Amino acid sequence: MPFDLDPAGAAFIADPYPAFARARAAMPVFRSAALGGWVVTRYADCRALLKDARLSADRMGPFFGHMADDRRRQVERLEATVTRWAVFLDPPDHTRLRALMNKAFNPRAIERLAPLVLARVDALIDAFPSEGRIDFIREFAYPLPATVIADLLGVPLADVDLLKRWSDDLGAFVLTARATPDKYSRAEAAAREMEQYFGDLVEARRRAPGEDAASWMIGAADREARMSREELVATCVLLLFAGHETTTHLLGNGLWALLTHPEELARLRAHRREPAFVEAAVEEMLRWDGPSLAQVRVARERTEWQGAVFEPGERVFLMLASANRDGSVFADPDRFDLSRKAAQNLAFGYGIHFCVGAPLARLEARVAFPRLLERLGRMSLAPQDLRWSDNLVVRGLHSLEIDMTRDNGER
Ligand code: HEM
Repeated sequence: MPFDLDPAGAAFIADPYPAFARARAAMPVFRSAALGGWVVTRYADCRALLKDARLSADRMGPFFGHMADDRRRQVERLEATVTRWAVFLDPPDHTRLRALMNKAFNPRAIERLAPLVLARVDALIDAFPSEGRIDFIREFAYPLPATVIADLLGVPLADVDLLKRWSDDLGAFVLTARATPDKYSRAEAAAREMEQYFGDLVEARRRAPGEDAASWMIGAADREARMSREELVATCVLLLFAGHETTTHLLGNGLWALLTHPEELARLRAHRREPAFVEAAVEEMLRWDGPSLAQVRVARERTEWQGAVFEPGERVFLMLASANRDGSVFADPDRFDLSRKAAQNLAFGYGIHFCVGAPLARLEARVAFPRLLERLGRMSLAPQDLRWSDNLVVRGLHSLEIDMTRDNGER
């Protein structure tokens, strides 16, 4: 039987790493019938292919191109939005939009957000019961990134849950190939409502610029005339969409990893005031079981790679989570070790599409974990059936029940 993954199988969804290890050892580049494309599992190959201009990041154009006309008309707004997302574009359009996003997301501008992030972290912890059980995803890992990205874009906090619903509806379309009955109509409705919402926001910021990322981008776009209104709106939608679910899962997967490795949790508690230790710890969370499972590319020309041939139009799944467990780069790769130097992990991608939000996601995690350890006296996993997301791009938990006590008097 030809080698393949079982991406919809319960074992893979709960723990994809054994299957990735088998693939890296036996068949590091293979054609998957289950995924309808090539699968690449080794670090060196994933990294090199993320920089290879023979592969295109435009996986949406071909998808819409293959749709029947009447179906395509039903998702017109969705197509107009996602095909303008930098993450799905190649140079030169990507270069232009990326330069504008970089302006708003440069590491120094993000570092200035640290006090705001800390205030949001504290407010969320203040709302925990003083003792008892909470769903860490619902009470912390979801609202923290959602409110921070809303702050950054200048969106009122009252609208955060609405934006989350739209994002989920877009995510059902963008992140999974699984068919659900109304997935297209819901994603189209979300795209229309978001277009309206961010269109209004862009106009309001034009008239009265604020100190938010949307205002900086709009100002730069207007001065340099390098971004159309449609592109600006689509970019706001992308930042909102890309900015929270992934970070939620960095926090959720990270806490799960700590709670299942009590000795590492104890080390982080002991070293929580040492920025270099915390920084390395967050990189290890990203590497060991981060939010990124895979990124997809499409061959634009015939590409020979490690004995395989990607024909034009074929999809290539770059398994970032597998690359991050590659023993030729990371010693004892299945071990969760907070003090290892894992900064070269591929959780944020590599090359021209390297995550624009990486400084923000890192900041949130570097602020959140020490503060949680500071303010929660005890934390343990509650008995529960863990449910992992079943899409191939983002890996994370639907909920994470923990037992905890708040305020151990060390504040
Ligand atoms: C832990 C959290 C995060 C992870 C694991 C993550 C992961 C990634 C990855 C793997 C890519 C590359 C996609 C590709 O190669 O096709 C990417 C791109 C991107 N991410 Fe993130 N991301 C995170 C947080 C964020 C945040 C907080 C934002 C925004 C505020 C953001 C915005 C973006 C954008 C706009 C791109 C596209 C960049 C481009 O195409 O040039 N991400 N992210």
